[in-house]
Amino acid sequence: MSNSVIMNKKYRYISLFCGCGGFDLGMEIDEFECIGAFDINKLVVSVYNKNIANVAQVFDLSRDFNFKHSDLDVILSGAPCQGFSTAGKRNLHDPRNSLFLRAVEIVLQQKPKVFIAENVSGILSGQHKIKYMDVAISLLESSGYKTSLSVVDCRNLGMAQMRKRAILIAWNTGKKFNLPDPVGRPMTIREAIGDISGGIDNHEPSTCRAIGVQSVIAKRIRPGQKLSNVRSGKRSVHTWDIPEVYGKTCKKERDVLEAILRIRRKERIRDWGDADPVSLESLKQYLGYDPIKTVCKLKEKGFIKNKDEKIDLTNTFNGKYRRLCWDEQSLTVDTRFGSPILFLHPTEDRAYTVREAARLQGFPDCFTFEGPLKAQYEMVGNAVPPPLAAFICRCIVNLLS
Ligand SMILES: C[S@@+](CC[C@H](N)C(=O)[O-])C[C@H]1O[C@@H](n2cnc3c(N)ncnc32)[C@H](O)[C@@H]1O
Repeated sequence: MSNSVIMNKKYRYISLFCGCGGFDLGMEIDEFECIGAFDINKLVVSVYNKNIANVAQVFDLSRDFNFKHSDLDVILSGAPCQGFSTAGKRNLHDPRNSLFLRAVEIVLQQKPKVFIAENVSGILSGQHKIKYMDVAISLLESSGYKTSLSVVDCRNLGMAQMRKRAILIAWNTGKKFNLPDPVGRPMTIREAIGDISGGIDNHEPSTCRAIGVQSVIAKRIRPGQKLSNVRSGKRSVHTWDIPEVYGKTCKKERDVLEAILRIRRKERIRDWGDADPVSLESLKQYLGYDPIKTVCKLKEKGFIKNKDEKIDLTNTFNGKYRRLCWDEQSLTVDTRFGSPILFLHPTEDRAYTVREAARLQGFPDCFTFEGPLKAQYEMVGNAVPPPLAAFICRCIVNLLS
């Protein structure tokens, strides 16, 4: 990243929605020079400038974009994904969604040889695909670009993280191209973070410890398990399995709770959300006896509640306190990886430090993060993993040469 290295670089690119620079860090491996990076967030721009190159600036990309360069090779876009993500509400009209198409408008204005857009794979389903991805492809193709759309699973890039991302590549160089499927062996969480110890930047386990009730719950969750009242099986620990926090239950009460758990999934009416409340009649039929007395007890104890004419579990908790396994891959590193209520370290009763989250995302330890902790987790979770960027970068070089 020194000036002498930058001067020898051959291909010029700009980075839209650059964040702290995960995408751009991957581009550093080849002969690419970033000549402009843009993001609305002052803190991520500062982190980018300290770690990548001093070319990022605070800019609202929804405004007029007057960047001028006669011979631009590549535009990168890592537009916000919140409105497309299945981890959120998937609001089709989230105002941030339009930024995905805003990047395409900038491409049509700047006319780079290659455009690369990364987003969550949720952008490839339902109305989201029709309203955003299909429109993007049609705009690009009607302006003379060829396009390729793929989903890459980061585990196949040798990473220790399950993260599937949609990659749209557009080019106007007349070449034939398809992004190949990567076929690497996934790393384990142990291999990725098992050697991290004190004295390393952005690694302070005390900041993400489970405290109070959280730590009592965390102690009950073994590797591979999560707190969930809406799933059965060995991977789910229920609130009724943790009497020291949620109160004691007898066998008969636990049988009724388990029955509600199963019926509510079997008889679901909605096709969204986790499942539906159940009627007393269904419960009676399922159990083969009238459970009304036990139901009343469970209401008093706070385990179940009335919902319209039916009953439902008070806490559904689908997937809190997920404790990952050392020898498996991590779930998708998101912006909440520092919360023990959501994610637990394989053996310690805490969440992940910023450094651990960054390692799982493929950032080297020399890349440092700053600002309030919440913001650091956000920039790490939002980043395009540098190994994914590096893979794409190596593949598109042929389009330019
Ligand atoms: C998914 S993150 C980008 C991650 C980045 N490409 C990386 O690899 O680290 C989306 C970014 O879009 C930025 N953003 C949101 N609205 C914006 C706007 N109107 N103009 C510019 N940047 C915006 C956010 O601040 C955030 O950093």
